[in-house]
Amino acid sequence: MNVKKVLFNNTVLRDGHQSMAATRMTTPQMLPAAPILDGMGFNGLETWGGATIDSCLRYLDENPFERLRQLKKAAPKTPQLMLLRGQNIVQYASFPDDVVETFVRCTCDNGMDILRIFDALNDVRNLQTAIAATRKCGKHARGELCYTISPVHTVENFVKMGVELEKMGCDSIGIKDMSGIIQPQIAYQMVKELKSKIGIPITLHTHDTAGLGAASYLAAIEAGIDVVEVSIVPFANGTSQPDTMRMLALLEGHPRRPDFDTAKLAELRDYFEEVYKQLSKFTSPANERVDSDILIYQVPGGMLSNFRTQLKEQGMSDKFDAVLKEIPVVREALGWIPLVTPTSQIVGTQAMMNVKFGRWKMICQPAQDIALGKYGKTPGPIAPNLLAQVVQQTGKKPVTERPADLLPPGLEKYRKDSADKGLPTDDETAVLFAMFPQQVEALHKAKTSAPAAAAAPAPAPAAAKATAASPAPAASRTNGDVRRLFVTVNGQRHDVTVQALEA
Ligand code: CO
Repeated sequence: MNVKKVLFNNTVLRDGHQSMAATRMTTPQMLPAAPILDGMGFNGLETWGGATIDSCLRYLDENPFERLRQLKKAAPKTPQLMLLRGQNIVQYASFPDDVVETFVRCTCDNGMDILRIFDALNDVRNLQTAIAATRKCGKHARGELCYTISPVHTVENFVKMGVELEKMGCDSIGIKDMSGIIQPQIAYQMVKELKSKIGIPITLHTHDTAGLGAASYLAAIEAGIDVVEVSIVPFANGTSQPDTMRMLALLEGHPRRPDFDTAKLAELRDYFEEVYKQLSKFTSPANERVDSDILIYQVPGGMLSNFRTQLKEQGMSDKFDAVLKEIPVVREALGWIPLVTPTSQIVGTQAMMNVKFGRWKMICQPAQDIALGKYGKTPGPIAPNLLAQVVQQTGKKPVTERPADLLPPGLEKYRKDSADKGLPTDDETAVLFAMFPQQVEALHKAKTSAPAAAAAPAPAPAAAKATAASPAPAASRTNGDVRRLFVTVNGQRHDVTVQALEA
């Protein structure tokens, strides 16, 4: 009998350290492992995208495209993967189509092979430009279904979305379970249904936050999944992907178990143990253990510990339960949006504001924008009373167009703004400048004033700088990006901190 082995993608160079060490692994820390990973027989290596680009610029003084070039050179054989937030690229709001297209082209030109493309609302219109741009470059577009639990997120609806993504030209489909809440029975059912309706390969991406990751992978493998995503200890398990060696042990005797050189895997683990120690300022025991609470609250694990930190900072520690209970209320009113960057930050902030000021007494700008359709079509309807309130307060009408259809081309403007700051005007700089203007300017100034130091950033000073900049290094599953929002009520200013959560 000819049984197809399941394929493994390895995430240690992206989601592994994003989930376990606040996205702080540096390129010099990655490079020694890259050729070993390249020779292991992984189907793909996730190396870029998500929060890594922000982290390179904000904390590590690295040019993200330079990281990509170096990783491609160090691991040329295995296809490399990146995570792309659809029309948001790797930021929080929609960019014009020409900026998305140029970013995708620069990324593919530098060697990226597989683009995992998702939208926080699962609005496929927000994926179409990135999918088309990826295919135009001859690269692999993987459309992601953001998994979440709600009355409108049925297996049937996810399968419909999968069928749609296949029609839109995706080369494969990913089930993206950023919160680690997909249960084995659901994973089995979803993979079976998807397999019966679509012909392209399917990948499951989950996290072991609630201890379900490995079991859900096994169920998906039984149902015929093509690829699962694993990491390497100590950047594995807990809030990250299940460990490679652990999955191999779980599949011992299974006809679909792939073959890997376990001695080489042990060598990689030893190497990453050292890196983990070097990143100790950004790691936390809270990331390493199983937290079943997330199954009760159905929110990403990192959100829970971020809330603890943020509520403490604001003297609201006693409101923890109230804020958690408010999350489903906010989600339902905003059309049951999944919790993934940027919606996790928006829902979290609004839940805190509802508890602090009274329900819907204050509505943060991004929540207003979601209600008005500016992020796209929400999975369920916006609560009519909330929508009426937002329309009245803002004087704006809800929109139904694809958000980017309302944006004029922007690349030349960003190029000009970049030139005005004395920065280069090439496409790479322009697209990075579009997303991270201050950071790109600072990086360029640092490089031109101290080229020797900037050429090879030493891990130690970079880590020290990052600590100073991070207000909550102990928080679980934090990544590079921390935003402060200021809201004023009766003349009194309140700070609300939001932290990027993504998987
Ligand atoms: Co993830």
